[in-house]
Amino acid sequence: MQIPVLIVVTLAALLPPAQPCPSEMNKVKDLLEVNCTGQALDEVPPHLPVNTGILLLSDNRLVSLSTKAFLPLTQLQDIDLANNKLESLDARTLLPSVKELILSHNKLRSLPDLQGLPALTRLAVAHNSLTTLAPKAFCKVPQLQDLDLRGNQMRQLPKEAFEGLKALKELDLSDNLLEHLPQELLQDLQKLDTLWLSGNRLQSLPIGFFPKGRLFMYRKRWRVTALRKPSSSFL
Ligand SMILES: *[C@@H]1O[C@H](CO)[C@@H](O)[C@H](O)[C@H]1NC(C)=O
Repeated sequence: MQIPVLIVVTLAALLPPAQPCPSEMNKVKDLLEVNCTGQALDEVPPHLPVNTGILLLSDNRLVSLSTKAFLPLTQLQDIDLANNKLESLDARTLLPSVKELILSHNKLRSLPDLQGLPALTRLAVAHNSLTTLAPKAFCKVPQLQDLDLRGNQMRQLPKEAFEGLKALKELDLSDNLLEHLPQELLQDLQKLDTLWLSGNRLQSLPIGFFPKGRLFMYRKRWRVTALRKPSSSFL
């Protein structure tokens, strides 16, 4: 009775490791989507398919992470790390194909260094514990179009916080503790068309706050939208 057990164990060791997460083609994006959602993971599973394009890692127990873990995945575009316990993220490893990074509902106290993600177009760090942003915090990700910073604890922002974000279209700063905003804050954001500011402590905005030559109007509470064909500015 000993020998068959030994054979089974030996065979198991020779087989490739079990694929921990189901995967399927995402037909809209034409990328392989690997779904590791809700598996109580405290680290990125090894042996993910090398052609992973979308990696869903939300609702796990990740506390700290280096994007080095994704280095073998050369086609990776979207990473969803929402709803973990992330206190630190090292994003300095160069991952030139990554376009979307979702970090919402974690425990980050400061924005990670994004220097390894030059192609990033969408970044969500909503519902973390950010208290402010460094000047030029996003200068390494100039292609960013959508930035979600809702639900943090930012009281103030330096005037250069969004410097260089010339492609940014949407900016969500709602549900923070902002009391004042610097007049120059939106200076570089030539493509901005929607800004959310609700749920802050703002009484007013500085004169000249909106980029020159663009007409903005208020909709709902503190959602500010650029009109399609701006002709003049007010405020
Ligand atoms: C990923 O897996 C989770 C848990 O099995 C499931 O609830 C969810 O719908 C899946 N997500 C997608 C996008 O397939």
